[in-house]
Amino acid sequence: MHKLEDVHIENLKLEYVPQVIELLQEISIFTPKTKDKELFKQFISQSNVTSVVANDGNKVLGFGAMVTYTNLRGGKIGFIEDIVTHPGFRKIGIGYRVLDSLRKTAIFLGCYKISLFCKDENIEFYKKCGFNLNGNEMKLVL
Ligand SMILES: CC(C)(COP(=O)(O)OP(=O)(O)OC[C@H]1O[C@@H](n2cnc3c(N)ncnc32)[C@H](O)[C@@H]1OP(=O)(O)O)[C@@H](O)C(=O)NCCC(=O)NCCS
Repeated sequence: MHKLEDVHIENLKLEYVPQVIELLQEISIFTPKTKDKELFKQFISQSNVTSVVANDGNKVLGFGAMVTYTNLRGGKIGFIEDIVTHPGFRKIGIGYRVLDSLRKTAIFLGCYKISLFCKDENIEFYKKCGFNLNGNEMKLVL
């Protein structure tokens, strides 16, 4: 049994990418064709992207990413994507810790709000993490 105290949050490193890609299958089934490290390095090096993992020292148990940008009127916003916890380690607080870490980064970077899209089944989780429902998601797949 894993305890939350055994889990720490750290920035994504290249060596964690295969485990994170595996975890992301929980959100959508897609494995990049390439195992090209340059692609992963590019992702990690984006200065407006923060990506973190929850790690128990042996294994990646959670992941989350946030992109930040400053809008035309000068407001800085964080957009959160791809929050996921390993299926065997849910409901022990890992998702909360990942989100909380991104929230603290957003505050540190001067964001005035964080937004995200989610499925109905995750609304309660995000509410417990302090988010409120606001509008509807619209999507155009290109
Ligand atoms: C959604 C998800 C990230 C939650 O991760 P988690 O590590 O289990 O969440 P936590 O343990 O930190 O939960 C925090 C709180 O939310 C609650 N919670 C978690 N998932 C919930 C759910 N689906 N419905 C209702 N409450 C939920 C927990 O019980 C906990 O409540 P508490 O503070 O009263 O104890 C995880 O279920 C997951 O990876 N799902 C599949 C991927 C996915 O859909 N990601 C979201 C993309 S938008």
